[in-house]
Amino acid sequence: MNTRELPTPNEGATPFPARQELADIIQRNILSRRSVRTFKPVALPEESLERLLKAGNSAPSAGGLQSRKFIPVTHHDDIQFIIEYIFSARVRQNKELFRNVPCILLMCANIATATQRYKRGRLYAIQDATLAGQNIMLMAHALGIGSCWIGQIRERKLVQRFNIGSDYKLIGLIALGYQTDV
Ligand SMILES: Cc1cc2nc3c(=O)[nH]c(=O)nc-3n(C[C@H](O)[C@H](O)[C@H](O)COP(=O)(O)O)c2cc1C
Repeated sequence: MNTRELPTPNEGATPFPARQELADIIQRNILSRRSVRTFKPVALPEESLERLLKAGNSAPSAGGLQSRKFIPVTHHDDIQFIIEYIFSARVRQNKELFRNVPCILLMCANIATATQRYKRGRLYAIQDATLAGQNIMLMAHALGIGSCWIGQIRERKLVQRFNIGSDYKLIGLIALGYQTDV
């Protein structure tokens, strides 16, 4: 059967009302999220960080292997080190960006685990970590926490500093914190 011939449900029969409510909330969350790059010097509560990591761990993963790891960095000196090695023009031009961010997640794909099972494992591990990242950023937004994905990094410097083993690929960072008043 060609998809065009599939019957469409009667209006009101589906989606079920509870799902419609969920769809509206999710749509509002997705559409209103924007990258945040200026933060108040205020720490994230431990329970918020736990919720964010749980959201990340709930993302789909190839074969359910969860071929990913998130390393939360909260120590001031470590954060300043990371900021030194972000090379996006925007950040180089504006020293204020990310300066007070209280938490940065190092988003790592577990290449070793995924390639043990799959020929395309490297790609799958990167997708596992990326999908987790989106979950984390959307959950952050719902919790009133601003976030920004950062891909322009000096990877080798960060891998060395944070002892990220060769089984992993550091695919990016997520800055997390409370946005300055705009
Ligand atoms: C793969 C990737 C890499 C990114 N790298 C950076 C970065 O290095 N620095 C930065 O400030 N923002 C970075 N961003 C954030 C984008 O600039 C941002 O998502 C885009 O401008 C759209 O804006 P929005 O997130 O507010 O919708 C990156 C986003 C993605 C998905």
